[in-house]
Amino acid sequence: MCGIVGYVGTQPALDVVLAGLRRLEYRGYDSAGVAVLADGGLAAAKKAGKLGSLEKELATNPLPVGATGIGHTRWATHGAPTDTNAHPHLDNAGRVAVVHNGIIENFACLRAELTGRGHDLTSETDTEVVAHLLAEEFSSCADLGEAMRLVCRRLEGAFTLVAMHADEPDVVVGARRNSPLVVGVGQGEAFLASDVAAFIAHTRSAIELGQDQVVELRRDGVTVTGFDGRPADVRSYHVDWDVSAAEKGGYDYFMLKEIAEQPKAVADTLLGRVDASGSLTLDEVRIGAQELRETDKVVVVACGTAFHAGLIAKYAIEHWTRLPCEVELASEFRYRDPILDPRTLVIAISQSGETMDTLMALRHAREQGSKVLAICNTNGSTIPREADAVLYTHAGPEVAVASTKAFLTQLVACYLVALYLGQVRGTKWGDEIRAVVRELSRISREVERVLATMEPVRELARSLAEKDTVLFLGRHVGHPVALEGALKLKELAYMHAEGFAAGELKHGPIALIEEDLPVVVVVPSPAGRSVLHDKIVSNIQEIRARGARTIVVAEEGDEAVVPYADHLIRIPATPTLLQPLVATVPLQVFACELATARGNDVDQPRNLAKSVTVE
Ligand code: G6P
Repeated sequence: MCGIVGYVGTQPALDVVLAGLRRLEYRGYDSAGVAVLADGGLAAAKKAGKLGSLEKELATNPLPVGATGIGHTRWATHGAPTDTNAHPHLDNAGRVAVVHNGIIENFACLRAELTGRGHDLTSETDTEVVAHLLAEEFSSCADLGEAMRLVCRRLEGAFTLVAMHADEPDVVVGARRNSPLVVGVGQGEAFLASDVAAFIAHTRSAIELGQDQVVELRRDGVTVTGFDGRPADVRSYHVDWDVSAAEKGGYDYFMLKEIAEQPKAVADTLLGRVDASGSLTLDEVRIGAQELRETDKVVVVACGTAFHAGLIAKYAIEHWTRLPCEVELASEFRYRDPILDPRTLVIAISQSGETMDTLMALRHAREQGSKVLAICNTNGSTIPREADAVLYTHAGPEVAVASTKAFLTQLVACYLVALYLGQVRGTKWGDEIRAVVRELSRISREVERVLATMEPVRELARSLAEKDTVLFLGRHVGHPVALEGALKLKELAYMHAEGFAAGELKHGPIALIEEDLPVVVVVPSPAGRSVLHDKIVSNIQEIRARGARTIVVAEEGDEAVVPYADHLIRIPATPTLLQPLVATVPLQVFACELATARGNDVDQPRNLAKSVTVE
């Protein structure tokens, strides 16, 4: 939610900042802005709309060339996405520029205070107060780092701030509380960004910032202090992917590339998890075996697509470990006073590791004494840093706003955690675990097979581009798959789409069925529990009898569904619990193609942002 870049070095700052913003556009894209320090002054440009509008503006009205700069791509919270509300925000003298991600909760009283002292604030944003406060503090201490520390101590809420001052032309200062900010260290240059993708083309050497820290960037180095001015310990790390992973690589959209990368993402997430004896060794899970044996309940918290992964995890966890498992939307979790104690294991699932709702749920669980295990795709992000343990998914950077490969790897990680719990608690025998792991290792090839047969799905999607509604039905693990299929269509195609438990249909939603309404049905394996399969075949007949156009996703060899399928999408046979790994893929392709046919940008759907760092 909002992408931030800062640079000090020897290259033209504007080029570095704009290239960085391009990689961060997934975090917000309703307006963008930049500022550079050059010729003893500060120059800025900002524009409503995607980065392209700003670039056009800069082509007509270029900024002077300087080697210190900052930039921002916005997802609006306070104030509409207009030119005036776009960042950077400046003080009245135009000497300080600041960009911000997050929400400053006490901005209204700070604004009143500033106005009372004669400041003229022109935007509707919460951010602008920071530029004015920094200017005031700088006028007495002449040190931007110190001014930032003093200002941050007065701010409430969540914020990442990056600022520069024309009187300190070789310095960029950043601050972080509950919002992401990473430092990149190059030769004679340094970077600040919401995500390493912004500077990966220049350096893979990064520094994690902790909460309530201020960083000062100069050409010859980086200093980090707490808001109180004390020097802080920092952790440096090497980014284990390169710039090609953050590029489209010949695909029209990141989403297409990421869908295609799923076989590799699934295989990579399984790598190194089994030792020579066939036992699972989840090295990153630093919660002791004894504690896991004493666990009496599992609670999964997550948002969006990750929440659907959690819903599927419940089936595996309960079946393999016999532990009760609840799954809760992270945004609802702490507000209902959930029953948590040291014997509760909380699993927080998050691709970005920065989702504020999930982070707040994690903190609430830890305050109640529960242990938290994070399943996360982003090394060094806040959620794994604050969790007791982490299992990293190895999907590589996911850029498209709608999650695809991260979802499949979250599922793999959930299965691994469920099996590991079964292993530690003795509810699963070694040979049973090995059998599931063998099946999981096969899945990457099966996903590849599904991807190779998607042309009819794309054709079907294109033919439905003018429809208003698509429904999705599933039973058992097929139910969360149906929810995920509907979410994909909503977020990408802006269509009315809903997922239902197939058995629940008759209790109300069946009233929605009308002539030629497309209904996607995810059919469980007939080899699993035949009663489950038979029930859904009846459900397909019920909707077809009422005029629905049935789009049936069923295993190869499942002949029982053939007479009732207007369109049949075949998926490989898998064990019942693992079916979501293959059944979700056609639904992703379906939504992506349908949205494209409607002329939508699938990488950057309207109103959304990939990393949602406000509650
Ligand atoms: C946003 C994205 C979704 C994502 C959700 C959770 O809403 O648009 O695609 O599933 O956040 O994100 P996380 O990074 O926590 O998995």
